[in-house]
Amino acid sequence: MIGVLFICLGNICRSPMAEAVFRHQVEQAGLSSHFLIDSAGLGDWHQGEAPHQGTQNVLKQRGIAFDSIRARQIQSKDIEQFSYLVCMDEENLSGLKKWLTPGKQVYRLLDFAPEQTERNVEDPYYTGRFEHVYSLVEAGCQGLLQHICQERGIG
Ligand code: 4NP
Repeated sequence: MIGVLFICLGNICRSPMAEAVFRHQVEQAGLSSHFLIDSAGLGDWHQGEAPHQGTQNVLKQRGIAFDSIRARQIQSKDIEQFSYLVCMDEENLSGLKKWLTPGKQVYRLLDFAPEQTERNVEDPYYTGRFEHVYSLVEAGCQGLLQHICQERGIG
């Protein structure tokens, strides 16, 4: 199984959106049996909560499932278990440093969407721009799936 963990600050807006969108894209590509997909937050403030209403709205509008997603904080075993650690912005990269083992690579989601002008997925918890964030997440997830398929020789 190829483990992909999406990471943001609170695990209620961006990373659960990315988890749902990536799982949906993987299903559409008929590749679900290859993947373990999850998300986590650097903070524990929203432990056990469903995604933010703004994230739920953009997913519902597109028929993308998110029912089983609940917020949780990242744990040290995630670093070993997941091959691809994919965070949302520079602040997440800094916050992740204390969790990482030597040599473990972390990506930002928009590393996989070079055509986008932004490199950070902004935090809609503060900006309220859930539709804009959805467009970045969709592009990043599509690029990530292509990258993994090439790297792993699947699809
Ligand atoms: P997220 O957004 O990192 O995209 O889930 C946030 C959600 C909650 C908080 C911060 C960011 N918070 O401080 O509670």
